[in-house]
Amino acid sequence: ARSIDLAVIPGDGIGPEVVAQGLKVLAAALPSDVKLETTTYDLGAKRWHATGETLPDADLERLRGHDAILLGAIGDPGVPSGVLERGLLLKLRFAFDHYVNLRPSVLLPNTTTPLAGNPAIDFLVVREGTEGPYVGNGGSMRTGTPAEVATEVSINTAYGVERVVRDAFERAAARPAKKLTLVHKNNVLVHAGHLWKNTVDRVAQEYPQVATDYLHVDAATIFFVTQPERFDVIVTDNLFGDILTDLAAAITGGIGLAASGNINPTGAFPSMFEPVHGSAPDIAGTGKADPTATVLSVALLLRHLGHEEQAARIEAAVTADLAERDGTPRDTDTIGDALAVRVAGSVTG
Ligand code: IPM
Ligand code: MN
Repeated sequence: ARSIDLAVIPGDGIGPEVVAQGLKVLAAALPSDVKLETTTYDLGAKRWHATGETLPDADLERLRGHDAILLGAIGDPGVPSGVLERGLLLKLRFAFDHYVNLRPSVLLPNTTTPLAGNPAIDFLVVREGTEGPYVGNGGSMRTGTPAEVATEVSINTAYGVERVVRDAFERAAARPAKKLTLVHKNNVLVHAGHLWKNTVDRVAQEYPQVATDYLHVDAATIFFVTQPERFDVIVTDNLFGDILTDLAAAITGGIGLAASGNINPTGAFPSMFEPVHGSAPDIAGTGKADPTATVLSVALLLRHLGHEEQAARIEAAVTADLAERDGTPRDTDTIGDALAVRVAGSVTG
């Protein structure tokens, strides 16, 4: 598209700080004939404190009209746990049917992995984003008594599993290694586990060029640490994907570098791009936040909107920037400026 109509949700804590850098790099990456228009939405802790609202229908409707959404981070120690997570972040993912939660993990130069021998890491987690234990299907009986019973029932539909599995196969088929690993726990969670396994086995017949395998989630955590190079594309449910992608960030230079896209591949709704990290209230305002995860999320955003060349430029700028980091601490703005300068320098037209 020759224009991008972007919704921006800076959110809480370090969210606004890293989003400012992401926008700076986005502006630097765009060729002069692509018009960028941004609309900022005041959503998050401040709004909730002021009005009690998390995501009113009117905002949701306006958000729906944009090409994409860039989100900083949501969450605040002054807001009860779950209010903003469920009422804002998950509400957006569900309302806009973000069934593909895309989380690439690449070990970039000069980043410190705690893993021995600096193995080559380059895998992509395709986390289901609209089902599983995240749907809020459950309840509690005899709440607050010694006889309390709480349930949190994971929902897995054939429709929901198949569409994310198909997306993961497509992505695996487009990568050099062409390998797809299903991660679940089908020795214990037999009902959902079998739906996932049967779906992967069935769809696999349409992708003979993609090698598939299966790992229980507990075993997968071992391999993340002992043999991360064995992974290419991973497809998994919402909760396993949440946990695995924090581990993935930890082995690839830390949560300050991990990008994500909440994608509706049909284009029926705007997709939303955000760093995997949270609002980090402990470092908000200190300039210590690394904007790189947000900048890499901007690259995912551009790729999703069809600007592959610009996305690749941003990724190359991040790689070059990391390669030249010498350990001297740099603040949020300085990193953002350096990336914007590199990106602008590589834009030709
Ligand atoms: C993430 C976060 C969210 C999730 C929370 C904040 C609801 O941890 O994006 O990984 O669990 O999906
Ligand atoms: Mn998470």
